[in-house]
Amino acid sequence: MKNKSINKIAIVGTGFVGSTTAYTLMLSGLISELVLIDINSRKAEGEAMDMNHGMPFVRPVKIYSGTYSDCRDADIVVITGGANQKPGETRIDLVNKNTAIFKDVVGNIVKYNTDCILLVVTNPVDILTYVTYKLSGFPKNRVIGSGTVLDSARFKYMIGEHMGVDPRNVHAYIIGEHGDTEVPTWSLASIAGVPMDAYCKDCNSCDSESFKETTYNNVKNAAYEIIDRKGATYYAVALAVRRIVEAIVRNENSILTVSSLLEGEYGLSDICLSIPSQVNSEGIARIIKVPLSEDETVLLNKSATALKQVVEGLKL
Ligand code: LAC
Repeated sequence: MKNKSINKIAIVGTGFVGSTTAYTLMLSGLISELVLIDINSRKAEGEAMDMNHGMPFVRPVKIYSGTYSDCRDADIVVITGGANQKPGETRIDLVNKNTAIFKDVVGNIVKYNTDCILLVVTNPVDILTYVTYKLSGFPKNRVIGSGTVLDSARFKYMIGEHMGVDPRNVHAYIIGEHGDTEVPTWSLASIAGVPMDAYCKDCNSCDSESFKETTYNNVKNAAYEIIDRKGATYYAVALAVRRIVEAIVRNENSILTVSSLLEGEYGLSDICLSIPSQVNSEGIARIIKVPLSEDETVLLNKSATALKQVVEGLKL
């Protein structure tokens, strides 16, 4: 019998993103057990050893390296394994390599656990969330991609910086693909309940149209800029994953721009992408129908079309 009081997380892949996510979860105090699984078992072992030596400084959490069979009683399996972007590569460039890896990974997880929530982080995350949904046979609410939770955080941070406001008081969502076709929903953005356009009008200290364009480009290109400088991104994405895990293990009903299967919402079907969604212990409880502007609707459709074209090229 599964003991629901144990919040156990398995992380598959202990590269930069997997190990930073593990460390972030270790610090979070949210979970009581964390197993690290990697094709390079010594790497997973080393990460577990390194983290365990910090145990006297955090709330107790059992951390160990293991194999797929250790997914057996996990509540959430976070998948971060696969190739990551090199400078100049897009996320979509990784699709064939990582789909092949996922055939192996997802098959191995579901051999041991068909009750968990699968949380996909590997890029291209929307495509791989769809691949995971198809390969796992799980209900759609239990297959979640980290999606644009990170992009929405970048968006809030950059708006907050520009406005001189705490990013936690900025409500703003990036939706669609986590990647080059992502959509900034300016029409929904607000500070203290004041819509962004009204806020800008009142502030009137910059050209708000060029601010919007620059901010969107900076959000969209953030990963390229970071990869160019340090070879990978991992701190912010790990915090985004921690936030999603928190919403699940604490049954928070939080609204997050996670990626999941659409079945008619926004006129889109049979594709995974990010829409503000209610997340709780069941996974995706509801995909919210937000009122998009005409331009945003056009861009969301373009994003979905671009993702569908990639999926059509896959042999699943
Ligand atoms: C990024 C990677 C995680 O956007 O896709 O930083």
